[in-house]
Amino acid sequence: MIKVKALGNMPEVYSVEEIVNVEYVTKNLYPGITVYGEQIFFDEDNVEYRQWAHNKSKLASGLLNGLRLPNLTKGAHVLYLGAANGTTVSHVSDIVGEDGLIFAVEFSSRTMRDLYNLARIRKNIIPILADARYPEEYADIVHAVDLVYCDVAQPNQSEILIKNSKAFLKEDGMAFIAMKTRSISQKGRAKDIFDREVKKIEESGFTTKKIVNISKIHREHYIFTGKLKS
Ligand SMILES: C[S@@+](CC[C@H](N)C(=O)[O-])C[C@H]1O[C@@H](n2cnc3c(N)ncnc32)[C@H](O)[C@@H]1O
Repeated sequence: MIKVKALGNMPEVYSVEEIVNVEYVTKNLYPGITVYGEQIFFDEDNVEYRQWAHNKSKLASGLLNGLRLPNLTKGAHVLYLGAANGTTVSHVSDIVGEDGLIFAVEFSSRTMRDLYNLARIRKNIIPILADARYPEEYADIVHAVDLVYCDVAQPNQSEILIKNSKAFLKEDGMAFIAMKTRSISQKGRAKDIFDREVKKIEESGFTTKKIVNISKIHREHYIFTGKLKS
């Protein structure tokens, strides 16, 4: 049995009291079904929660370091680039709930198999086998979203975020990138590489909302969130 408390600004994410090494959980939208071997907990009303491991999810790690995404809430529509086999996508699916939607883009057909299986159960996930460098390829499937989430670990990851945000982000929507600095350059300090990318993103028309260093858990990774200037 656990005691949970909703996070301020993100009421669909819960912090857990009195369990070592479990900081966050999400309410399981599909009780009885786990996704990646995560632990399951119940509260005193027998509601089921899934552990959200911050060493397996950069978003959970960001939350642990003070990030809040108010746009990521019940009913939100999300464009998720670099969905992989759906670890973080599954928690986003818990958060946005039955009325929300996740367009989950992944270009590895092998990984996509897991994502298809996940989407067969979780009805709010639309798996899209496509290359995020070319948003025009899925423009007839994806509509305007509240959040563009980018975690592709590619040299041109900032351009991917910029292009997709300009194509699909709602006026007040939020852009998020978990930046793997070593995919961009092998040379120099990770923070310098990140700072150069943030400058590039700002120059393309974004205002920075929050910068979070998650390097302690995800080596040489930083998170940027921002909004498009109107
Ligand atoms: C670091 S993993 C993502 C992990 C995932 N976001 C999570 O937290 O569960 C990066 C993923 O991005 C995918 N990827 C890389 N470049 C891509 C591109 N141009 N278009 C679509 N997917 C891409 C990779 O195949 C890989 O599955």
